[in-house]
Amino acid sequence: MTYNPSRRLFLGGSLAASAAGATGLITPAGLAAAQPMQSPKIMYGPTPGVAKLNANENPYGPSDMALKAIAEASSTGGAYYAYRAGMYLRDMLAESNGLKPENVSITAGSSLILAFAAFAATSKGKILGPDLFWDTTSMAPVRQGGPELVRVPNKADLSIDLDAIYNAIDDDIAMVHICNPNNPTGKLLDPKALREFCIKASKKTLVLVDEAYNELIDDGPKHSMIPLINEGHNIIVARTFSKIYGLAGMRVGYMLGSEENMEFINKYGLGGYSINQAGLAAAIASYNDEAFKDFSRQKVKEGRDIIMDAVKANGLSALPSTTNFVFVNLGDDGDANAFRKAMEAQDVLIRGQYRTYQQWSRVSTGRIEDVKKYAAAVPKALDEMYKAIKA
Ligand SMILES: Cc1ncc(COP(=O)(O)O)c(C=O)c1O
Repeated sequence: MTYNPSRRLFLGGSLAASAAGATGLITPAGLAAAQPMQSPKIMYGPTPGVAKLNANENPYGPSDMALKAIAEASSTGGAYYAYRAGMYLRDMLAESNGLKPENVSITAGSSLILAFAAFAATSKGKILGPDLFWDTTSMAPVRQGGPELVRVPNKADLSIDLDAIYNAIDDDIAMVHICNPNNPTGKLLDPKALREFCIKASKKTLVLVDEAYNELIDDGPKHSMIPLINEGHNIIVARTFSKIYGLAGMRVGYMLGSEENMEFINKYGLGGYSINQAGLAAAIASYNDEAFKDFSRQKVKEGRDIIMDAVKANGLSALPSTTNFVFVNLGDDGDANAFRKAMEAQDVLIRGQYRTYQQWSRVSTGRIEDVKKYAAAVPKALDEMYKAIKA
């Protein structure tokens, strides 16, 4: 399933070219003959027949409008740096959130600006977060020898314990990292409780809320902490075009915060300079495409129902999810890595174990036919998992 560029293809091409050169046949026709005629099997998406349900993408994107914009921007703008389109998207995001352009920083995927925020924070102190959340970017400084992430246990139902996190804030904490809805649990915090937490915690330290999945939930604006930025609280919010907009491969994300916070975080990166014309065009064309967003939410709900039915039919349980992935409890003996492997053997890609949460397995909603493939593969994968556990 991994891509191996064919050495023979390239070797064949260069041998053909040198043979043509040796006979003095470097004419346009000769050149054409010297090029490998077969297109290399570059894979831009999943291998056909494989259900890719491991990265919470929206395979129904890019929308038709985004695809049109990508083609146009690539042909008219591909040769040029994307400064103007970047400024356009930044202004658009600022205006729609009632903020100034200086409050917005756009990068090639939100991972980048989230990592910059993590590096900026750890230049001052430590990052505090729950035990279980999407910690990839806040772990980036740790991987470089920076301070350890301070983790607070999730509640028994795996939700984020805001009170315990608040109580863990001390003078060493430079940033609190909350992901809402949380990945991998799919759980959403009560908006009033989160708002109150953000207001009081941000009096002590910077609070980051990663809202990557906000547009996928019902009533997204009610759950967003973006208004707190306008109210002057020490809060930054990350958003992405990778999820509901179906543009994970186009790499566009952004962060909103006070001018001071954005300036400090931007020192750790190159800001909008990282995004390309096609990605910007896709984001600009998709941002207000309500029909596509409604359609995507509908597909996510359909997919989630199929997953939940399969979970129940196989005697398992799952956390109720508000978004495009489900955290499945494989039972006390469950082994998420063995289950993942058994699923992969049936061409279904899902996530393996998170940290110490061995019995929990995350599956994304995706194309309905892919989710059906997951549902059909569960019984055999469970059998294989139990065999692996016993062995
Ligand atoms: C919670 C969360 N935030 C951010 C990201 C990163 O998304 P991107 O870099 O594609 O914007 C992900 C990716 O899965 C995620 O789950």
